[in-house]
Amino acid sequence: KAMQILKEFEEKCGTPILKLRQVADAMIVEMHAGLASEGGSKLKMLISYVDNLPTGDEEGLFYALDLGGTNFRVLRVQLGGRTRGIVNQQFEEVSIPPSRMTGTSDALFDYVAATLAKFVAQEGSVFKPSPGRQRELGFTFSFPVVQSSIASGTLLKWTKGFSIDDAVGQDVVAELAKAMERRGLDMRIAALVNDTVGTLAGGRYNNNNVVASVILGTGSNAAYVECAHAIPKWHGLLPKSGQMVINMEWGNFRSSHLPLTEYDHALDAESLNPGEQIYEKVISGMYLGEIVRRVLCRMAEEAAFFGDTVPPKLKEPFVLGTPVMSSMHRDTSPDLKVVASNLKDILEISNTSLNMRKAIVELCNIVATRGARLSAAGVLAILKKMGRDTVKEGEKQKTAIAMDGGLYEHYTEYRKCFEGTLNELLGEEVSKTIMIEHSNDGSGIGAALLAASQSQYLELYE
Ligand code: BG6
Ligand code: GLC
Repeated sequence: KAMQILKEFEEKCGTPILKLRQVADAMIVEMHAGLASEGGSKLKMLISYVDNLPTGDEEGLFYALDLGGTNFRVLRVQLGGRTRGIVNQQFEEVSIPPSRMTGTSDALFDYVAATLAKFVAQEGSVFKPSPGRQRELGFTFSFPVVQSSIASGTLLKWTKGFSIDDAVGQDVVAELAKAMERRGLDMRIAALVNDTVGTLAGGRYNNNNVVASVILGTGSNAAYVECAHAIPKWHGLLPKSGQMVINMEWGNFRSSHLPLTEYDHALDAESLNPGEQIYEKVISGMYLGEIVRRVLCRMAEEAAFFGDTVPPKLKEPFVLGTPVMSSMHRDTSPDLKVVASNLKDILEISNTSLNMRKAIVELCNIVATRGARLSAAGVLAILKKMGRDTVKEGEKQKTAIAMDGGLYEHYTEYRKCFEGTLNELLGEEVSKTIMIEHSNDGSGIGAALLAASQSQYLELYE
């Protein structure tokens, strides 16, 4: 019976190539709708106000805050222009206390400002700005924000593990600025960017072929360079570059083609944001382990998979994190001892048979494979939208995609499946023109680079 539950789940999670193509095409339809009008689609296709990406000429000392992933980061980057590149960088990483993720806006931004103030207080006097000058900061904020300029924007909603009601609808830059002022910090917030946009900027700094970025982490999202005239909802002046970076907020994509199961519906209904971020809930790190837990729970409840009683720990939402899932999935020892030890340590389940452990590895594989293949379909959608899913004769155009996020970085099976599926979707010839590049923590540096391009002292560098 337990094997039957697993089998049924596997069947419902199927992602044959044809289905992936349907998902990609459905996403392209939504991309057009989201670009056409505000509220035109589940895909917000947010205008980033970034119409120029880093060139390598950026110079000066800049700071960045990176908020919204597993860790919160403060960075300082010394940019040395074309000849010297990044001369020096320093960062500090802390995790946001869970109470600040669901409390008040003031509590969150105060924590952020306090960490920044400490970072600045600890730095040597060489970094002190000359009299009359302000420090400048790029702010990576990895949530959906409707921007009104490069350095302002209101929070549409929270995603992932954050939920702070009084911040929704507020200008996050103004909130941060208030908190900084309360902490006596004199700094100018020069750019507000999503992590995808930061990753795209950081990726472009290192490789001129980067035109899109994807985050596969706690949450998932993508950004890409769009032609400004293909954005009907943009009523501003046409940028000189003719281009605009779009933050897709693809996590909120949904389609009848997505292979969703009863476990996904239950996870969604009990989440912090029911009905939202459906694509994110099948592909990203925050949820994969939780889906595995839910299936195991059903196997325990309805088929006594772990014996007569359901292990109490197994009933705790989110007790089985994706890092644990990934380490079980990766277990190649003949007796699956990593699976056994995780079951014992995390779920307090001992005495499992080898066959049970094999079934658990298979379950991890089903959930990771579905997620990875669906995220590859998302990338296909972007490439198709940009017209880079085919190779024209005689053309040597290369396309690079900057990738980041804990899932991509640490879950090897997921990453391999993602890359393999993308190759399968694109075919051999096109695959050769597409580069997937890991841009490690590129979003913080990207924000500093974008702050540099928005510096109030730009003429000093000219
Ligand atoms: C980091 C970026 O490298 O990746 C963050 O700098 C981003 O801004 C993060 O949010 C996503 O990864 P995770 O796995 O921490 O959610
Ligand atoms: C969530 C956020 C999005 C972010 C992504 C990756 O989907 O809404 O803004 O880019 O997570 O961190």
